[in-house]
Amino acid sequence: MPRIAQTVAAIGESATLAVDRRARALAARGIPVISFGAGEPDFPTPPHVVEAALAACRDPRDHHYSAANGLAELRRAIADKTERDSGVVVTPDQVLVTNGSKQAVAHAFTTLLDLGDEVLIPAPYWVTYPEAVRLAGGRPVAVPGDPGHGHRVDPERLERARTARTRVLLLNSPVNPTGTAYTEDELRAIGEWALDRDLWVVCDEIYEHLVYPPRRFHSLARVVPALQARTLILNGVAKSYAMTGWRVGWLIAPPDVAGAAANLQSHVCGNVANVSQRAAIAALDGPTEALQAMRAAFDRRRRLLVEGLGTVAGVVCPEPDGAFYVFPSVEGVLGRTVGGRPVTTAIELAEALLDVARVAVVPGEAFGCPGHVRLAFALADGDIREGVERLRSALG
Ligand SMILES: Cc1ncc(COP(=O)(O)O)c(C=O)c1O
Repeated sequence: MPRIAQTVAAIGESATLAVDRRARALAARGIPVISFGAGEPDFPTPPHVVEAALAACRDPRDHHYSAANGLAELRRAIADKTERDSGVVVTPDQVLVTNGSKQAVAHAFTTLLDLGDEVLIPAPYWVTYPEAVRLAGGRPVAVPGDPGHGHRVDPERLERARTARTRVLLLNSPVNPTGTAYTEDELRAIGEWALDRDLWVVCDEIYEHLVYPPRRFHSLARVVPALQARTLILNGVAKSYAMTGWRVGWLIAPPDVAGAAANLQSHVCGNVANVSQRAAIAALDGPTEALQAMRAAFDRRRRLLVEGLGTVAGVVCPEPDGAFYVFPSVEGVLGRTVGGRPVTTAIELAEALLDVARVAVVPGEAFGCPGHVRLAFALADGDIREGVERLRSALG
């Protein structure tokens, strides 16, 4: 009899974490790796947030269990912030605070899906979505986006993938791994299509603050208000406030769904750490200068990386609208040799680049989109220049 249950045995290690692990292992051996692998800001958490956490540590009220759905002050701050940033009015009882938005993803699918229900996932997609759907008993259905248009999906592409079992559309904008941010008109078309077909829409808005002018972030629930009764918004402090390690995310849903998800969470993990919740309140209610400075730095690095990759033979890199990723096509490199090694897939290319050039990138296969690689530009300008130089000489 197998020792591990089938559903869990079928899960692989997250490809993005695997690349990061290999890069760190090389670095630990003193081998200087330029890692474009990690999906997290390289900035420290803003000082006022850290101070709020220190104060929370010293307050005995924060030393004990708290409500499973989150501290009332944080749920209020999240409701206020959602109205401010997304233009969607919600009440605190629609908010469930989770251990990072990753847990909100898991809760959303577990709460909405019955066995065999299908979830449409535009591809390329963040690595966790299909696994979270499978763990919830659902069936992930990848919907390939238009490679000539930022890998966007539209109602026609979605309709082709829809079946009688389709229950949920997952929509992530800005997108990990392409950085594509859907426009208001694109969202309206998709939202009205979903509304007509009575689907649930799970909107992952974790990169909302990382959209570069002149593009702007739009929330589907604001653009198509009639869809709000069937929309879940997932978000968190990780990417916007350089707080990946604090593990605070949230799910916003109609009250019955939010309540059911809170019951689920009460048995899975109880409340999120109070100290982290207090830190998140300080982030959401506090000054925004740090956020703006980070966005400006990412914008500069984005242009630096796109410009640099434009000089690398065989790489075609569109400019992303948001997030901190580029997702170039490497079709022009496949079939060639890199450091004397033949490479025919993006996986082989990523392995060769790590071994030969000491540059870490994530192969597109991990995101359901072969022939591409993802590079995060959450690293210093000098490292970006050095990484591009290494790529140029390895692929030159
Ligand atoms: C699209 C997307 N959603 C959610 C997350 C999870 O973020 P966290 O769990 O740190 O809040 C990530 C992290 O990489 C992501 O890229």
